[in-house]
Amino acid sequence: MTTREPHGPRETVAVIDFGAQYNQLIARRIRECGVYSEVVSASTPLDKLLAMKPKAVILSGGPASVFEDGAPRYDPALFESGVPVFGICYGMQLMAFLMGGDVTRAEIREYGPVKVKVDTKAAIFRDFDPVIDAWMSHGVLVQQPPPGFSVIGRTDHTAVAARSAPDRRLYGVQFHPEVVHTPKGLDILKGFLFGVAGCKGDWSAGSFVDEAVGRIRAAVGDGQVLCALSGGVDSSVTAALVQRAIGDRLTCLFVDNGLLRQGEAKQVVATFGGHFGMRLIHVDAADRFLGRLAGVTDPEQKRKIIGTEFIRVFEEEAAKLSGRIDFLAQGTIYPDVIESGGAPGGGPASVIKSHHNVGGLPADMRFKLIEPLRQLFKDEVRQVGIELGLPPELVWRHPFPGPGLAVRVLGEITRERLDTLRQAEAIAIEEIRKAGWYDRLLQAFVVLLPVRSVGVMGDERTYGHTVVLRAVTGQDFMTVDWARLPYELIERISSRIVNEVKGVNRLVYDVTTKPPATVEWE
Ligand code: XMP
Repeated sequence: MTTREPHGPRETVAVIDFGAQYNQLIARRIRECGVYSEVVSASTPLDKLLAMKPKAVILSGGPASVFEDGAPRYDPALFESGVPVFGICYGMQLMAFLMGGDVTRAEIREYGPVKVKVDTKAAIFRDFDPVIDAWMSHGVLVQQPPPGFSVIGRTDHTAVAARSAPDRRLYGVQFHPEVVHTPKGLDILKGFLFGVAGCKGDWSAGSFVDEAVGRIRAAVGDGQVLCALSGGVDSSVTAALVQRAIGDRLTCLFVDNGLLRQGEAKQVVATFGGHFGMRLIHVDAADRFLGRLAGVTDPEQKRKIIGTEFIRVFEEEAAKLSGRIDFLAQGTIYPDVIESGGAPGGGPASVIKSHHNVGGLPADMRFKLIEPLRQLFKDEVRQVGIELGLPPELVWRHPFPGPGLAVRVLGEITRERLDTLRQAEAIAIEEIRKAGWYDRLLQAFVVLLPVRSVGVMGDERTYGHTVVLRAVTGQDFMTVDWARLPYELIERISSRIVNEVKGVNRLVYDVTTKPPATVEWE
């Protein structure tokens, strides 16, 4: 933990968003360097931007071409403000364009890996090897840097792959330092942050907590907050953070839909109601959910029923608290913001415009929304969770789908089949943990198939259920590979499940990548 005052000045680097998909990644890399960073919209006026007192400004990439009508621009007075500026790709082109450089369309479009010859005396390339690997993606070239700039990097096709005006602390690169395909990228950012902008690098999960606590207190005043707790990482961290800020003016609502993993409901109650002493409303709604799901086999229908039922339960419980709750805390994290097409800015407290965030609350429920994790990626959320004292096994738990085991019991959902799956999954996860594989996997779980097959146990013929073991690796959930688990581990899991879980006589291992398969079976 740093000792900085919650509301005191902190070093902030603003990333101006010109629309590239990598922009949050830039902010995240900067935070990895220990410097707080936020993405701000390109429409933020310069005086507002400077009011953030940024230690530096990054002009990000973007899909537009600087010549186009309507291409996003920025106030060139930024370059006279004395704040260090680093332009990346579109950001560098825009800077050149606004400052009188010669920018043209590229004859040869460079895309993908390139070799860049760099000036190893430049602050952002200091003591590097003279040629570095980098990731390029552009169709526009800066032919001639603006007056006062010198060229500090070039490729075979790009005369100005990097340039700087060190006395004015203005830098630009044509390639993408934020992606893993530019192996020295983090060092380039560090060179700019520490070597040029004079950052100290004292941001951490601890200082984020201080900061967020201050912001939540300021936003909530003496109001009351409701938080829907699922037991997943995002809602757990949100609840712990809001509690840190406002104590018992937080009420958590945990809806047990009967589709959770073995021991999960107990753990949520023990952790939040017990250890954290939160005001926790535990709604055991298993009968309602399972009643509505009876006889349903279509995956999309299952999802719809569960979504609708959750809203009903939530509404009923929220109505009981009606008049007493002013705010709703949600564990929205940055990837959710992107997926729903939302704006990355917005800060921690913004008023609900539509009720889509909670799936359709009635119009007369006028909560304001608090989303303290909106700017963070999953691994940052986990660091914050650890900082807040959440149990590591909760913080590092594999993701679990909202519809729960309903999408892993293929075919009809019954209590008995859910129990079978729970036991099988508990064994699989226990063995995977014991073998030291849990943290190497993106996700691992068991699926119960709606087929039976013949087997033999002792002298008896069996006609039992088949379960699937699914374990996947990868960087994110867009593409995954099946995990090359050791045969001995698969063997142990198979043998234990078939011996210990009544009714299961066969286990198969899923060896399909995504795409073409998905991670879940439904
Ligand atoms: P798929 O199966 O789409 O899964 O490759 C990717 C990731 O998303 C999770 N998942 C869901 N999460 N509601 C959720 O909250 C859902 O309906 C849902 N479907 C899949 C899945 O567990 C994996 O982590």
